[in-house]
Amino acid sequence: LDLAEALDLLPKVELHCHVEGTMRPGTVLELARRHGLALPTENLDELYSYTSLNEFLSIFWLVQSTLGGRDDWARLGYESVVDAAAHGRVYAEMFFTPARHLDTGQRLADIVSGLADGIAAAEAETGARAMLIADIDRAFGPAPGLQMVTELGELRRSGSPGIERVLGVGMDSTELGVDPKSFTKAYRAAAGFGFRLTGHQGENSPASAIAEVIDVLGAERIDHGLSLVDDPELVRRFAAERIPLTVCPNSNIRIANAFPALAQHPYPAMRAAGLLATLNTDDPAMTDLDLGYEYASVAEAFDYTFDDMVTIALDGVDATWLADDAKHALR
Ligand code: HPA
Ligand code: ZN
Repeated sequence: LDLAEALDLLPKVELHCHVEGTMRPGTVLELARRHGLALPTENLDELYSYTSLNEFLSIFWLVQSTLGGRDDWARLGYESVVDAAAHGRVYAEMFFTPARHLDTGQRLADIVSGLADGIAAAEAETGARAMLIADIDRAFGPAPGLQMVTELGELRRSGSPGIERVLGVGMDSTELGVDPKSFTKAYRAAAGFGFRLTGHQGENSPASAIAEVIDVLGAERIDHGLSLVDDPELVRRFAAERIPLTVCPNSNIRIANAFPALAQHPYPAMRAAGLLATLNTDDPAMTDLDLGYEYASVAEAFDYTFDDMVTIALDGVDATWLADDAKHALR
């Protein structure tokens, strides 16, 4: 067993993975055909080529639009958990971002119950588990964000099927020209309904925006958080308070084009500064990644030992929103 194989087998959790970004290439093509959606090319290697976050997002939105209804979401939830389990993922808190589906008339209750059914079937088959985080799509602006959170709260109050899978609320999509504070109402409402809070920030926005997501929006975690390293004072605070960052090094290279190679990624500097920086894939099917490779490539690039990687995996468990006894069961 070499290190890469051992890390593929190592039980791991994942806190930054978009369920739409896990869609198998064959499923993308099949759903696109079924719903009469024309793709610019049927060669997904060609389709999945981008040099910036915004370019990536336009393809991500196309993939999202192949999800035509409850059955498609169920299939996606199932395949997503099965595929990740094959690389040692035992637990995940996975994003779904339903803004464009709600905009075209799909019901949030159907999306949630479809995903939950698919995930439950995969859990029964693999033993790996997954929960959900409903992400606000920043490209749609604050009002649809607040609307989605309000509907989530109603689903929770009425005990809608599958809603117990949704642990929290986050936000993703574009950061450029978006003021995180404009989502304050949505985040307040989410907290009021008892949802946990996270948010994508610092993928290509400054450290000051990361601070706002914590201090103004009340998030408990930051997804990406790359630009944090530009503010040593804020780094010290995040380390002292053990505020988790869900870092996606390979995604940052393949999607955001933030660094030429892993060797230039600040991940080791983040770990050395004492940050609770976890490892995640982001959109594995769209970037040809899996969580085993994420661990193996980081270990190789930064000369981490198996024990170092176990420490990172355990930090992942700490950063989950599981209760203490459930965290303990994963250690
Ligand atoms: N950043 C923002 N939005 C996203 C991402 C990401 O990495 N992946 C899918 N939607
Ligand atoms: Zn992401």
